Amino acid sequence: MPALLRYTDRVAYVMDREMVVITPKEVIIKDSEGRVVKREPQRITWSLEDAEKGGFEHFMLKEIHEAPQAIHETLLGRLANLEVDGFLSEGVTSVKLVACGTSYHAALVGKYIIEEIARIPASAELASEYRYSQGATERPLVLLISQSGETADTLGAAREAHRRGCKTLAISNVIGSSLSREVDKTIYTRAGIEIGVAATKTFIAELVVLYLIALKLGQDRGTLGYDELDRLKDQLRSLPRAAQYVLNKADEIRALAAKYGRDTKDMFYIGRHANYPVAMEGALKIKEISYIHAEAYAAGELKHGPLALLTSSTPVIAIVAQDPTYEKMRSNVGEVSARGSPVLAIGTEGDKELPKFVDDVIEIPSIPWIFSPVPVSVALQLFAYEAARMRDCPIDKPRNLAKSVTVE
Ligand code: M6R
Repeated sequence: MPALLRYTDRVAYVMDREMVVITPKEVIIKDSEGRVVKREPQRITWSLEDAEKGGFEHFMLKEIHEAPQAIHETLLGRLANLEVDGFLSEGVTSVKLVACGTSYHAALVGKYIIEEIARIPASAELASEYRYSQGATERPLVLLISQSGETADTLGAAREAHRRGCKTLAISNVIGSSLSREVDKTIYTRAGIEIGVAATKTFIAELVVLYLIALKLGQDRGTLGYDELDRLKDQLRSLPRAAQYVLNKADEIRALAAKYGRDTKDMFYIGRHANYPVAMEGALKIKEISYIHAEAYAAGELKHGPLALLTSSTPVIAIVAQDPTYEKMRSNVGEVSARGSPVLAIGTEGDKELPKFVDDVIEIPSIPWIFSPVPVSVALQLFAYEAARMRDCPIDKPRNLAKSVTVE
């Protein structure tokens, strides 16, 4: 789409085994038998401006800064009555979230969110693995997440879910994408076009849809009372501000990226509960754009092996939100510091204890912990961006990577 926006805002999608004859006068779509196929073009709401850098040095930076807008747009008109693109939670007793890459990390966060808010069993699986595992006899709602809606493994997983007799729901950022044609229903994120290869604002928007789904499930199953539901809705409404709070710390984050990322070869990211997959996402971001080798661990796992790798030249990025795992994170950070590794924490404003046991802190605003993955992710995206910029990496087009992975 970015390549076409300069010329048109009307597109017609070509399906598998179709061909197109383009003449100066017309565009004819034919099927494999040579029969003409009638297909109405769709109007794309993305503007040319969306496909330009708008004064930012890189698309990735622009897209990180668009997080508040992406959250706002994705919530628009959906919160009051929890009307999410016709999604009905009837009959849903468990959820399986399936995706690749960054969207898989959103799926993992989604598992924690759905279990915490809606009290429904949820699990996450990589699309490339789901297809080859044996399905259990129960039929979960299969939630396929893909910003592009074109990832081959996720498309294959959608077909497999149907084969197993499961209902399927997609979360995608691209209207009319292939995935939306493979599933029963699609909920669209409204993050706007994303051009940088590293997914940023679309990850945040995926999380927002997952919160909406969790609220809807919680409401319909009666696991959330009215007051609780209203409180959670208000907190969701405040997320654009929470993202902006972190964006306002860009200078501070740049300085910390210089300190921790400029000459580093290896790095560790740790977190617990919903912030464990956020640590995985932070590590993926820094790997793909700065080429620093980074590993993410559930903080409780360090002592089962990875501690052997820690030295004074392996910085550890620790997500220490004020959640029920705070004390456990504190002791894990102690294990890390005892090996001489410098610790940069992502913590909560007003946490007076944290600076006493870590070397540096990037603060997120004080919001209920279940929503902390949003501002923490923005902080980790900016950190990865700044580290990559300092190392002179081709940020928007990292080596060996493509924006959409259409091969298996
Ligand atoms: O379009 P999708 O969400 O299905 O893409 C999945 C992954 O290919 C994608 O998230 C990839 O990991 C990104 N480069 C991460 O920044």
